[in-house]
Amino acid sequence: MSDDAVSREQLDSLQNNAKQAADLIRKTVENGEFIHVVSHLDADGLAAAGIIGKALARLGAVFRIRIERWLDEKVASSIAADKPALTVFADFGSGNLDVLNSQLADNRLIILDHHQFTEEPSPTFVHVNPHLHGIDGSRDLSGAGVAYFMAKALDKANVDLAPIAVVGALGDRQDKYASRTLGGANRIIVEDAETTGGLKTETDLLFFGRETRPIHKALAYTTVPFIPDISGQEDRSVAFLASIGITPKKGDKWRALRDLSEEEKKKLCSALADHLASKGLSGNVALNLIGRVYMLTHEEPWTPLRDAREFSVLLNSTGRIGRASLGVAICMGDRGVALEEANKVLGEYRRTITKYLSWLTEEPGRIEELNSIYVVHGEGIIDDKMIGTISSILSTNLPKLEKPLIAYSAVQGEEFAKFSARTLDPVVKKGLNLGDILKIAGEKYSGRGGGHNIAAGAQVPIKNVDAFIKLVDELVKKQLEGKPLEG
Ligand code: C5P
Ligand code: C5P
Ligand code: ZN
Repeated sequence: MSDDAVSREQLDSLQNNAKQAADLIRKTVENGEFIHVVSHLDADGLAAAGIIGKALARLGAVFRIRIERWLDEKVASSIAADKPALTVFADFGSGNLDVLNSQLADNRLIILDHHQFTEEPSPTFVHVNPHLHGIDGSRDLSGAGVAYFMAKALDKANVDLAPIAVVGALGDRQDKYASRTLGGANRIIVEDAETTGGLKTETDLLFFGRETRPIHKALAYTTVPFIPDISGQEDRSVAFLASIGITPKKGDKWRALRDLSEEEKKKLCSALADHLASKGLSGNVALNLIGRVYMLTHEEPWTPLRDAREFSVLLNSTGRIGRASLGVAICMGDRGVALEEANKVLGEYRRTITKYLSWLTEEPGRIEELNSIYVVHGEGIIDDKMIGTISSILSTNLPKLEKPLIAYSAVQGEEFAKFSARTLDPVVKKGLNLGDILKIAGEKYSGRGGGHNIAAGAQVPIKNVDAFIKLVDELVKKQLEGKPLEG
């Protein structure tokens, strides 16, 4: 068994767990009862919602999908007030079992999630989570992946939804195995997608639109990794290519990345590495330029849906710009007008990212280095829905990659701040668990927090922001020294 594989026992146990959820859904649909689906706002959450929505539509279910930024007492109480026959949570729920147990204990509830958890669910809940089966939910299966296993248990025909689960996993940056591949239980999904002809993979430059898009656009449109002065800046991207002698056209036709010779590709990579180094960024980022590309074969090559990573960015954009239902519709197969609209949203999202990043780097102090972490002060400027995206990008774009970062911004119209924390694999391997740290620090300061070891979030009252940051800085130091977090 290779080290990225999941064992037969683990897989069987996960599939049995997913089948419990599928059985309850089938029974509910047979009774003609209404189903509420509640999912998370990011790419993985929207992909999960799309998979569940499509599977329910195929069953002829009556249902509604609702997308939320997080799951808290407010969301739980509005669900309780609706009294649905069945509620399905996707991509959150496991980390909020305390809230669900106290407000929805008597309800029929399914949780399809991959977050860490510490509480036991009420006996009326069906809880499906890879961590229950010894599978690492932060890298080996996403929320969309859990939704996919449920959909497959419901009906084998739903294997055609596997590519959407691949999009979800990539949205959560689970491509953590060699050459940026997906592994663990995600590998089973990739195999399903390949077998049914919906997915093709290849190792190449990871820039978006590498099959058809003019090279300067491919460079400028890519946000992961984010290359300062090139990402989001087409004109500078043209100048950069000219400066290294890569001709953008052959005759009167634009060349795409796949038209470059091996030698030109090498030249491009080393020039980008030099460019990154000149910005004070380490080679680690440069190494991220080549890896496994996941192509959705049923999508047109010139659309942002062709490359699964770009698809995930598009989903993220719809969620973060307040148009989540567009993202869900696209995952359920809607194209035409929905895709046209989503394309516009994607453009706006890219411009917003570029704007925020230049604002943050323009003035010293907006990114502050403490003893053990970086703090990104986005208050007043960065929209709270964009904080997660900005911190994901910055996690590979800071001078000291061994230091985790937390970014925050005030939530509009509310009295609290939204925090997003990120780190990288080598730091997790040293024992850091941001999910645990943000949970402890969030609860200590009258808020809430949680997530994965590598990526976590919290909501904290504004008056406690400074104290919260100070505690996170201390807890990171403590945990990296191998000391227990509490006590
Ligand atoms: O709620 P969920 O698990 O879907 O969200 C995980 C979030 O953390 C995603 O927004 C994903 O992009 C981010 N992430 C990250 N770096 C990682 C892993 C996850 O930025 N290495
Ligand atoms: O919001 P953000 O993208 O920073 O969240 C990172 C991860 O932490 C996500 O998986 C999110 O679901 C999780 N999270 C959580 N509890 C919170 C806030 C975020 O589990 N209170
Ligand atoms: Zn997720």
